[in-house]
Amino acid sequence: MSDLSLSLTGKAALITGGSRGIGRAIAIRLAEAGVNVAINYLRQRTAADETVSLIESHGVKALAIRANVGEAENIHDMVNQVKNTFGRLDILISNAASGVLKPALELTPRHWQWTMNINAGTLLPLTQESVPLMTHGGVIIAVSSLGSVRAIPNYSAVGASKAALESLIRHLALELAPHKIRVNAVSAGVVDTDALKHFPNRDSLLGESSKRTPTGRLTTPEDVANVVLYLCSPFAEQIQGQTIVVDGGYSILA
Ligand SMILES: NC(=O)c1ccc[n+]([C@@H]2O[C@H](COP(=O)([O-])OP(=O)(O)OC[C@H]3O[C@@H](n4cnc5c(N)ncnc54)[C@H](OP(=O)(O)O)[C@@H]3O)[C@@H](O)[C@H]2O)c1
Repeated sequence: MSDLSLSLTGKAALITGGSRGIGRAIAIRLAEAGVNVAINYLRQRTAADETVSLIESHGVKALAIRANVGEAENIHDMVNQVKNTFGRLDILISNAASGVLKPALELTPRHWQWTMNINAGTLLPLTQESVPLMTHGGVIIAVSSLGSVRAIPNYSAVGASKAALESLIRHLALELAPHKIRVNAVSAGVVDTDALKHFPNRDSLLGESSKRTPTGRLTTPEDVANVVLYLCSPFAEQIQGQTIVVDGGYSILA
């Protein structure tokens, strides 16, 4: 029998945007696997507090950190708080995202820079701050979307930022492999979270996605979290620099 297991007892994770939606589902899956989890949020303290309670209900430690991942100084302070509380960091999940949803011809330079910075640029300082804590190796996972490789109305800036994110993942994977750090991305199909409220075409997006998805249903936050847990486990030891798509087969259609 192999001694591999999905148990990650005693490890510590930091999840940006871990207070709601996909980030919260990841936080809960990792807590179930025995991980002490720090979640980051920006505005909604109540949601962060609720997630902390959900994490703690699995008998592990939790920490909520308010920080804007678009600010390098905030990232520095956030990782320091993880160090001071858990004394280690084994898993970094770069999940928080933002961005301007508009036709490309209406995007200003500020919209573009903001979106590229939050969704792609942030991973670099997050990694630079986190790697010194990953003294026994680690796992870095970014959450991406199908807009990185497909064209979606109003999604030019976010899609391009996710493409940059997936490229950065590959380069970090190459550079960090000798440090026993695995770096991958999980790219999700449409998931019905609060983020979709910002889409002008939310209802048609949800309706069409669920109708066109070969598995017959929308992807849930838990579907994404299950793959993240797998990537964090020793079962995924040889997966490096990849983007794993979790979309019920939506993206294989012509
Ligand atoms: N929903 C989808 O259909 C879908 C599909 C594919 C990929 N994704 C990706 O999945 C990830 C999570 O999306 P979601 O749908 O779960 O989003 P969500 O439900 O809107 O949650 C967003 C989370 O990010 C935090 N956040 C936002 N801006 C932040 C900032 N500047 N600094 C720190 N935290 C910030 C929010 O904190 P506050 O609540 O405090 O603001 C919240 O915890 C994103 O990378 C997104 O691109 C989503």
